[in-house]
Amino acid sequence: MRELTPETITDAVLDQMATTPDPRLKTIMASAVKHLHAFAREVNLTPAEWIKGIEFMTAAGKMCSPERQEFILLSDTLGLSALVNGLHDATALEEATHTSLLGPFYREATPTLAAGSSIAKNPKPGSECVLYGRVTDATGKPVANATVSIWQTGADGLYDIQASATSVDYRGVFATDADGLYVLRTVKPLGYSIPMDGPVGAMVRAQARHGMRPAHIHFLVGAAGYRELVTALYLRDDPHLADDVVNELHATARPGKGELLVQVFADAAGAFAAEDYEAATRL
Ligand code: BEZ
Ligand code: FE
Repeated sequence: MRELTPETITDAVLDQMATTPDPRLKTIMASAVKHLHAFAREVNLTPAEWIKGIEFMTAAGKMCSPERQEFILLSDTLGLSALVNGLHDATALEEATHTSLLGPFYREATPTLAAGSSIAKNPKPGSECVLYGRVTDATGKPVANATVSIWQTGADGLYDIQASATSVDYRGVFATDADGLYVLRTVKPLGYSIPMDGPVGAMVRAQARHGMRPAHIHFLVGAAGYRELVTALYLRDDPHLADDVVNELHATARPGKGELLVQVFADAAGAFAAEDYEAATRL
């Protein structure tokens, strides 16, 4: 029988797991064990600290429900979701728009609206802006009849479902026209705090982090024969672009086509008409 010590236990576990038939699972689990053991050694983790860690993960699990995924929030606030997305973008076969986090506020039950409609039910007079763009394939060819699902916070920094599970506001699905164009009205979103009432919020507070995300508008774009794209536009002037609590990679230096930083120009308010759309989409 082999005598296990803190020095030999890692290899012993790896030997035991060497029978894993699925090669990718084998690689992932072997690496996870090596890094977890290295982490415990590096910080000299005590049993009491590890119990605290287990209690934290238990609390995260208990917080999960069909409406709330605390583990995704944990992955987001540790920067792991953004890292995994960034690694995926970098290995993508084609160079295309960057991905962004889906986040917890997407929902499938989103109304389909006609081009030019407003996704904001009761915008304050003068607060509307026009949002438009073109969906293309990776070679730049317009994609007609793509679905563009959009969701964002209102001017108060809240998503509709934070007010009530059934309210629908600041979200809509649009179809692109024959030239791949979509256009809608909305209001300028506000930056907001991630949900702070669970164990992840407690962790963020214990780290004296602010918990804020910069203002953004989410997009989920789909079309027959194409992979779905989850992305977002971020407001260029937001003070939290550089210290986003979920560490989203906004940098334009990321490989991929298109900028995810936008400027909202005042004063499309109320004056939106067919000729504006035509002028805007000729840009
Ligand atoms: C969001 O953008 O909606 C979001 C993303 C990650 C964590 C929390 C919120
Ligand atoms: Fe969001």
